[in-house]
Amino acid sequence: MRNIRDIIVCPECQCSLNDALLCTKCGTQYSCRHGVYNLLSSRLSGEQEYLYRGEIPEELSSLFNEETEAGYKKAEEHYLSFFNEETIRAFRKQDESMRKVLASLSGRVCDLATGAGTMLQMLLDAENDKITDIVCTDINEFTLMATRYRRNASRSNLFYIATDGRYLAFKDNAFDAVTSYAGFGNIPDAKRVASELYRILKPGGKIVIKGNYIEKDSRSFELAKSVGIERGMVEEYLLEDLHTAGFVDLQSDVVAEAVWAENPCDLVPAAGDRQRFCIIEASKPAESSGACFGLENSKPQNEAVR
Ligand SMILES: C[S@@+](CC[C@H](N)C(=O)[O-])C[C@H]1O[C@@H](n2cnc3c(N)ncnc32)[C@H](O)[C@@H]1O
Repeated sequence: MRNIRDIIVCPECQCSLNDALLCTKCGTQYSCRHGVYNLLSSRLSGEQEYLYRGEIPEELSSLFNEETEAGYKKAEEHYLSFFNEETIRAFRKQDESMRKVLASLSGRVCDLATGAGTMLQMLLDAENDKITDIVCTDINEFTLMATRYRRNASRSNLFYIATDGRYLAFKDNAFDAVTSYAGFGNIPDAKRVASELYRILKPGGKIVIKGNYIEKDSRSFELAKSVGIERGMVEEYLLEDLHTAGFVDLQSDVVAEAVWAENPCDLVPAAGDRQRFCIIEASKPAESSGACFGLENSKPQNEAVR
């Protein structure tokens, strides 16, 4: 892609931005700092409590250095230390399957809720030359700055956009593929996210989701419901929401199952609950088909989400 600005828009009104990142219609001002575009609208996304709101020092070098890198590593190790053997095995199997799927992608890829960049790293490690660009997204601008610094800032085909999965700041039909790892399970309103991903994909484009899914009648489900993320955490509901958005050829490959051990770092799943480790794939119908080949007899409705 010659310029990321060719595909970004104002999330409020879907209009183009000028060179100064000002919306040409509603006048909202956006920004770009430390290689990360901030295309968040406080009106649309301000209610998300867990947005990072701290001040960011002007000098990134004072923020990300060997000490902070060691801090990230320590935090990762701490998180992984709670995994039981069967969970570790399940994640390994899931990664194996995911690697095969990533090898089949091509063109411009959007990674939903990139966070610390596990999926991004898998995309980079895939060394798939058919992938032309990777656009990382997250609601947290600071997280993207850290991930950009840690994972590979210098590549010219990697872009970082702070944008809300429910109000993506991209033009319609901008991407060939979307990847997601633990994105749906962290963003309230899976229906809206599915609809947005459908909108930004080109006809024939593909979505690939690596996710761990909880059972409906579980403590995990109640916890997920308490923060509005239950639809993105139950395989059946997520497939339903993807279908409703218009996706076809839905496929969920259950690669493993495991019982979650006590982990103070996560609200969901609850300790002792079983999870299914899946790779979900779906496509946006090719323009020419004009038909729905999804779940039986129900019409997809990609309703306008704003
Ligand atoms: C568990 S992390 C995702 C892991 C990541 N995909 C990876 O590969 O390492 C969840 C991420 O979702 C992001 N998030 C939460 N709400 C969001 C929203 N409305 N839109 C986009 N990202 C959001 C969080 O900031 C966080 O970085």
